Amino acid sequence: MEKEYLHRFYKKSHEEKIKALKNAAAISEEDYAALKDETLKLAPNVANQMIENYILNYEFPFGLAMNFVIDGNERLIPMVTEEPSVVAAASNSGKIVGLSGGFQTEMKERLMIAQIALKNVPNVESATKNIQKNEAKIIELANAAHPSILNYGGGARRVEVRFIPADKEFDTPEFLVVHLVVDTGEAMGANIVNTMAEAIAPFIVELTDGSSLMNILSNYATESIATAKCGIHPKYLATKTMDGEAVRDRIIEATQFALADPYRAVTHNKGIMNGIDAVLLATGNDWRAVEAGVHAYAAKSGQYRSLSRWTKDEDGNLVGELKLPISVGSVGGTLSIHPSAQFAYRLLGQPNANELSRILVAVGLAQNLSAVRALVTEGIQKGHMSLQARSLAIRVGATGENVERVAQLLQESEHMNSETAKNILDEISK
Ligand code: MEV
Repeated sequence: MEKEYLHRFYKKSHEEKIKALKNAAAISEEDYAALKDETLKLAPNVANQMIENYILNYEFPFGLAMNFVIDGNERLIPMVTEEPSVVAAASNSGKIVGLSGGFQTEMKERLMIAQIALKNVPNVESATKNIQKNEAKIIELANAAHPSILNYGGGARRVEVRFIPADKEFDTPEFLVVHLVVDTGEAMGANIVNTMAEAIAPFIVELTDGSSLMNILSNYATESIATAKCGIHPKYLATKTMDGEAVRDRIIEATQFALADPYRAVTHNKGIMNGIDAVLLATGNDWRAVEAGVHAYAAKSGQYRSLSRWTKDEDGNLVGELKLPISVGSVGGTLSIHPSAQFAYRLLGQPNANELSRILVAVGLAQNLSAVRALVTEGIQKGHMSLQARSLAIRVGATGENVERVAQLLQESEHMNSETAKNILDEISK
């Protein structure tokens, strides 16, 4: 990628932006033409096959977060979001972290879990032993239900048994749950593990004498943990009114607050997901699955807490770490039919599922840094002002150059609301 073409990307017109991407060799000639001719959209006949009772395509903006360096690779990050400031904030942190060497990421394994849930198991101990004794047979049965995954180096890996005791407070009975842990290759894997779970369930029932309740993937992807880290020299954190060390220390205190207080933790983690969801959406992945898993992970200590940690090292650098369960695929699902999702993958350089998971966590950490840095310095509203002003201007009917003019005057006015925006527009339209 020839980065110099992307300099001050946000200042360019739409036409200049896509030309810059082509000149920077960030996109191919074909994608350049497709962006120009707007042919990367979901066709109604395809959408009609995706869901029931389809009537129209609902569009969201697709933008690029710039300046990301992840494991030494420069990346443009595709983001689909309706929220102003998310892309700018990610780009800003991308730059700050990039100046200190970028993000380092890690993901050791990517395994998905299927649950075979049983009730009324007469003897839990012997049922457990029976399952453990027959692990190889269970794995064999599971793989036979989806043999093609073996061609891609995947397949069922192990079987685990979990006993869930009865709970008087919630009036829940005992459950015996069998986990089938599966390497789903490049697929997110929901279909693969659900097929396997349903295929092995009768044998599990036979082995346990229990009755089957359900067989389904768990979105709590604890065997697919991706980590992103970064270390930032405090001089890159300084604002106009606060020195870098002070900002660093306040970011650390902000994390301590989010570790201690669930009310703050939810908002703190929402900020992380602002970035992750936007990339999940752009790449056609199931953001509800990741959201559900991530929030469960935030509560794994028994209290809902911050997912990220910000501390300092002995040289005084701000050190960030984010560790999350991520279940995504680089093949199949929406990606196999949605032209914009396919484009997002090409923009990212066709990452495999492991790489994509790591990119997602790096983006989450970046998004968190921007939000918290703004919160502990000038506050979040200031940065939102100009985008809010522009969106107000559009809402009252401003078009073309008038959007910027109305937004500018709005920000200088005493009350930034629709009425003022309308008055300004009327005035400049005279
Ligand atoms: C807004 O969408 C996200 C933030 O509230 C996140 C945070 O508070 O850390 C700014």
